[in-house]
Amino acid sequence: MGKTNFLFLALVSTFVVLAHAEDPYLFYTWNVKYATLSPLGVPQQVITINDQFPGPWINSTSNNNIVVNVFNHLDEPLLFTWNGIQQRKNSWQEGTLGTNCPIQPGTNFTFHFQVKDQIGSYYYYPTTALHRAAGGYGPLTIHSRDLIPVPFDWPEAEYNVLVGDWYAKSHATLKKQLDAGRTIGKPDGVIINGKNGIFVNGVSHTNTETPLKLAEYFGVSDKVFKYDIIKDEPAENVGDKITMAPNVINATFRNFVEIIFENQEKSVQSWHLSGYSFFAVAIEPGRWTPEKRKNYNLIDAVSRHTIHVYPKSWAAIMTTLDNAGMWNLRALVLERQYLGQQLYISVLSPERSLRDEYNMLDDQLVCGIVKGMPVPKPYAGA
Ligand SMILES: *[C@@H]1O[C@H](CO)[C@@H](O)[C@H](O)[C@H]1NC(C)=O
Ligand SMILES: *[C@@H]1O[C@H](CO)[C@@H](O)[C@H](O)[C@H]1NC(C)=O
Ligand SMILES: *[C@@H]1O[C@H](CO)[C@@H](O)[C@H](O)[C@H]1NC(C)=O
Repeated sequence: MGKTNFLFLALVSTFVVLAHAEDPYLFYTWNVKYATLSPLGVPQQVITINDQFPGPWINSTSNNNIVVNVFNHLDEPLLFTWNGIQQRKNSWQEGTLGTNCPIQPGTNFTFHFQVKDQIGSYYYYPTTALHRAAGGYGPLTIHSRDLIPVPFDWPEAEYNVLVGDWYAKSHATLKKQLDAGRTIGKPDGVIINGKNGIFVNGVSHTNTETPLKLAEYFGVSDKVFKYDIIKDEPAENVGDKITMAPNVINATFRNFVEIIFENQEKSVQSWHLSGYSFFAVAIEPGRWTPEKRKNYNLIDAVSRHTIHVYPKSWAAIMTTLDNAGMWNLRALVLERQYLGQQLYISVLSPERSLRDEYNMLDDQLVCGIVKGMPVPKPYAGA
């Protein structure tokens, strides 16, 4: 009897220790407002977060739980995405309009997500309307935990440099132009950390990732993720081939997927896939044909979450669809994204298990025909 009690106590104390060892939380409260600032020297309306432009720095360490309570003080619905954060099993917090309902004006919503298995420099931005053209973006860093070795020294100092195109008009004016079928044209300038930049060649789209990559490339450390996936899944297993057309693609969970981008335009086009990193296995001039598959680099292709495709060129990317959820494949050029160059890839786990995908949280925003319905919990077990 005494022995049983001892065992019971030992189990309880183990449980308590585990509970205390939960990954740390970072809490943020964001007040999102309009303000009048002059990024290019002329006063205009911008979107600030806690009166900052660019927005506050989320400075995290891998495995941190990030909780961001967003108060929308704008006069329009608002949503943020966490560009490049893989949101394993958790597309519910992805913050694109095909996955989440937006935060209505005068209300708040709390994003909860954990940053795992990736380190590097990322950014967040608003996905609603043309809000990104007015700001609302900011840096998100994931440091490696002390126990995970990385192939570079701890930096002596860290700086966030957010470089992007900028239009001197408000997002509402730009949106009206697009809605009327006109282009918003070339940006009026480039801003660096919210201030006028002095770039000679205006970059053709907001790309905050380019200039400052030293120890990591698009957020994935050195060789950590490169080889195994490719070796396990030879190219013969290519399952789904995606070309841009429908709004939602039903893809097969765990299938190896090849996505081909053909850019027939005169400017560089950039594409981002949420929820995943992928291998860019080929980028070549001309048109893609199936014979080009023999040129694919299946040995040491670089892992990334954004692909840049040169004018009159194509690119092929590959990944394994191992992250269940509804993911967004989008043009990074804001005008193209707004006009519909984006689609969703629905990756449904046939087992409907918590091992593959989390349930929605109870405070998930709902809208449209599901408004007023209870939040479904389709996944059971673990
Ligand atoms: C950012 O986080 C890293 C890792 O925890 C820490 O070393 C660094 O001091 C932080 N920087 C700031 C400005 O808080
Ligand atoms: C809104 O903010 C309040 C106060 O901080 C918080 O208690 C509540 O959970 C938030 N609501 C949502 C839906 O996040
Ligand atoms: C995708 O799957 C859903 C159910 O999971 C189904 O309702 C829908 O019709 C499918 N769409 C296509 C294009 O196959």
